[in-house]
Amino acid sequence: MVVASYNTFDWAFRGINLNARMYIHVKPMRITILRLGHRIQRDQRITTHVALTARALGAEGMLLDSDDSGIEKSLNEAAARWGGSFYVRRIASWKSEIKKWKEAGGKVVHLTMYGINLPDAIPQIAADRGNLMIVVGAEKVPPEIYELADWNVAVGNQPHSEVAALAIILDRLMAIEGKDALRTQFTGGEIEIVPKKRGKEVISKSITHTRKMWACSVRSMGNWLTRRHK
Ligand SMILES: C[S@@+](CC[C@H](N)C(=O)[O-])C[C@H]1O[C@@H](n2cnc3c(N)ncnc32)[C@H](O)[C@@H]1O
Repeated sequence: MVVASYNTFDWAFRGINLNARMYIHVKPMRITILRLGHRIQRDQRITTHVALTARALGAEGMLLDSDDSGIEKSLNEAAARWGGSFYVRRIASWKSEIKKWKEAGGKVVHLTMYGINLPDAIPQIAADRGNLMIVVGAEKVPPEIYELADWNVAVGNQPHSEVAALAIILDRLMAIEGKDALRTQFTGGEIEIVPKKRGKEVISKSITHTRKMWACSVRSMGNWLTRRHK
C-alpha cells in the first residue's frame, strides 16, 4: 500500500514537473536591448541601425542611455509604416534599469569582443531561458558592466560592429526558441513587401485587408449557395 501511494505521489509529482517543463518551453523569451554610451552627434545613424536590427530580428524594444529623442522618433515612424510594437525608451540611469530587470528575474548579456565566444556561451544562455537584456556599447563602456552582466559574450573575439554582433546573437537566440529571426511577423502598419526574384513590390496593408475581406465574402457566399442547392 505504501509503495502504491508513493507511486501515485511520484506520478503526480512527475505530472507537475512535466507541466512546469512544458510551460517553460512555450513561454517566449523576451529580449530587450540596452544601448550604452550613445553620443548624439556621432552615433545617431549607428544607434538607429541597432534599433532597426533589434526590431527586425524579434527584440521587443530598446532602452537608450541618452536624451536623444531622434532615435525614438525614427523608430516610431518605422513602426507606424512597417508594423509591430517595438519601442525605444530614453533612460536616465542604466544601472537602475539593469537592477530592475534583474529583480524581475531577467538576465543580462553584455556584448564585448573580450567575452566568452558566442558558440561557447550559448548553451548556458539556452539552459537558463530567462528574459534577456542585451547590452550594446557605442563608445568605451563603463567597467562595472562587466561585473553586472550575467554573461560577457563575444561574437567572435575580433573587433567589428555592434550591429553585426547584435544581428548574429539575435539569430542564435531565436533559434533556441525554435524561431527563425528572419521570419519575425509584424502586425499592423501601413505597408508590406512582396518578396520578388527581381524588382520591388510594396503593397498597402489596407488594400491587402480589403482584398482578404472581399475574398472571404465571396467564399462564404459560394459556400452558402452550394449548401442551398444540395
Ligand atoms: C564598435 S565597438 C567600440 C568598442 C570601444 N572602442 C571599446 O573599446 O570598448 C562598439 C560595441 O560593439 C560591440 N562589439 C564590437 N565587436 C564585438 C564583438 N566581436 N563581439 C561582441 N560585441 C562586439 C560591443 O558591444 C561594443 O561595445
